[in-house]
Amino acid sequence: MNKKSLNTAARDHLWMHFTRMSAYAKAPIPMIVRGEGAYVFDVNGKRYLDGLSGLFVVQAGHGRHELADAAAKQASELAYFPLWSYAHPKAVELADRLADLAPGDLNRVFFTTSGSEAVESAWKLARSYFKRVGKPAKHKVISRHIAYHGTSMGALSITGLPSIKEDFEPLVPSGIRVPNTNLYRAPNGTAGPDGRDAEAFGRWAADRIAEAIEFEGPDTVAAVFLEPVQNSGGCFPPPPGYFQRVREICDEYDVLLVSDEVICAFGRLGEYFGATRYGYQPDVITCAKGMTSGYVPLGAMIASDRLAAPFLKDSNWFAHGVTFGGHPVASAVALANLDIFAREDLNGHVRKNEATFQSYLERLHDLPIVGDVRGDGYFYGIELVKDKATKETFDDDECERLLRGFLSKALFDGGLYCRADDRGDPVVQLAPPLICDETHFAEIEQILRSVLSEAWSHV
Ligand SMILES: Cc1ncc(COP(=O)(O)O)c(C=O)c1O
Repeated sequence: MNKKSLNTAARDHLWMHFTRMSAYAKAPIPMIVRGEGAYVFDVNGKRYLDGLSGLFVVQAGHGRHELADAAAKQASELAYFPLWSYAHPKAVELADRLADLAPGDLNRVFFTTSGSEAVESAWKLARSYFKRVGKPAKHKVISRHIAYHGTSMGALSITGLPSIKEDFEPLVPSGIRVPNTNLYRAPNGTAGPDGRDAEAFGRWAADRIAEAIEFEGPDTVAAVFLEPVQNSGGCFPPPPGYFQRVREICDEYDVLLVSDEVICAFGRLGEYFGATRYGYQPDVITCAKGMTSGYVPLGAMIASDRLAAPFLKDSNWFAHGVTFGGHPVASAVALANLDIFAREDLNGHVRKNEATFQSYLERLHDLPIVGDVRGDGYFYGIELVKDKATKETFDDDECERLLRGFLSKALFDGGLYCRADDRGDPVVQLAPPLICDETHFAEIEQILRSVLSEAWSHV
C-alpha cells in the first residue's frame, strides 16, 4: 500500500487503542515503518528518538536481527504447541531461566501473552490458592490510586483510574484503593514537618494498606498489587522502607504481595526485576513487555513455591490457561533477548548511566512549567505545573489545550516519541531503550527544553 492508501485504510478500518480517533479525521495518522537502535522512522523517512521504548517494551532496542532470527528458527522448527498437558523445550528453558533470575523462591512460571493476562492470572491464583488452604473468603484485592494494571475486566478492576473504568461499570467487585507514593503531592503532615521526609511518608503510605485490610476484614483480603515504581501519575518510586513495611503487613495478615512488573522488570530499573532493586520479596511477580523486547508478545506470572504447592498434589489444578501462553516462538525470542541482556550487561549499563539520565532531565528544572522530575533507572516522569511555588496544577481545559492540543504533537514533530499523560496530574513520561547513553539523553533534554519552553505560551 502506498502512503495515501495506508492512511485511508487506517482511518476506515483500524481501531486504535486508547485513541480519540476523531483527532485523525483530517490529520494524517503517524505511521511508523522501521526501527533501528534507539530510533524509529515514519513513512516519510523522518527519524524519531524512541523515548518510550514503544510502550515500555523495546529494552534491547530496535532492529536486532538476532531476535528476528530466533523467531524464524523456532517458527520453522515448531511454530506452535500448547502448554495444556504438554510442554515444549523453549517454554521449559525460559521458565527455568526466569526462576533463576527471579528473587527468592519465585520458582513457578505461568506464561500468558500480555500484562493484563498476567495480572488477571495473579488475582485468580490468589483466590484459588486461599480456597485450597482453607481461607475461602479471602478474595479482595488492594491497589493504589491512579495505578494502571491492565484492561481485561479483572485487571481493570484492580486499576485505579476512574476515567478508563466508568464506561465498563459494574466491574469485578472487591477492588480496594489505597494512596500511592507520590511524595511531591504528599498530603499535609504525612511527610514530616517540611513535607520532604520520604521515609515517614513511605511508612504512612504503607500503613494505609494495613488500615484497608483491617477495615475490609483480614479474612476477606487476598492480595495487594503494587508496581515497584508506579507508572501512571508519572513515576512514583517507593520511599525508603515502603516495601519492607508492606511486606511486614502482608505477612501479618496473610495477604499476598504481587509485584506488578509489567513495566519495571527486564532492566527498566537496572535489574531483571524491580523487587530486586528495592530489596523486597514478593509472593508473585507479573511481567510482560520487555521480556522479549517486544519482538513478539509474551507475559508471565511467576509464583512462589508456597503458592504453587497446593496445585502440585492430588487431583488439584489451576483451572486457567490461554492458547498462546508460552508460545514457542515468543519463548525462543525471550531466551535470545535474555542472552543479549547477559552478553551486553544491559542491567549494568542502566545502573552505570542512570545518574546521567537523571541529571539531564533535572536540568529542565529551570523552566517555569517543570514542577517535579522523578523516577529511577531508565524510567522517569516530569510533572508539569502552572505555578512552581504553590505546585498548582492545570485544570481540565488547560490540560486539554496543553497536552492534547500542543505537547504530544510538538514533541513528536520535534523528533521525540514519548508520552504526555494527564490521567493523574499532567506529566511527560520517558522510558528510552536500555542501550541509550549520554548522546541520547542530551537529545531528549534538548527537544524537551525547546518544546516545554514554548508550551508555557500555550497555557
Ligand atoms: C503495570 C502494568 N500492569 C499491567 C499492564 C497491562 O499490560 P498489557 O497492556 O500487556 O495487557 C500494564 C500495561 O502498560 C502495566 O503498565
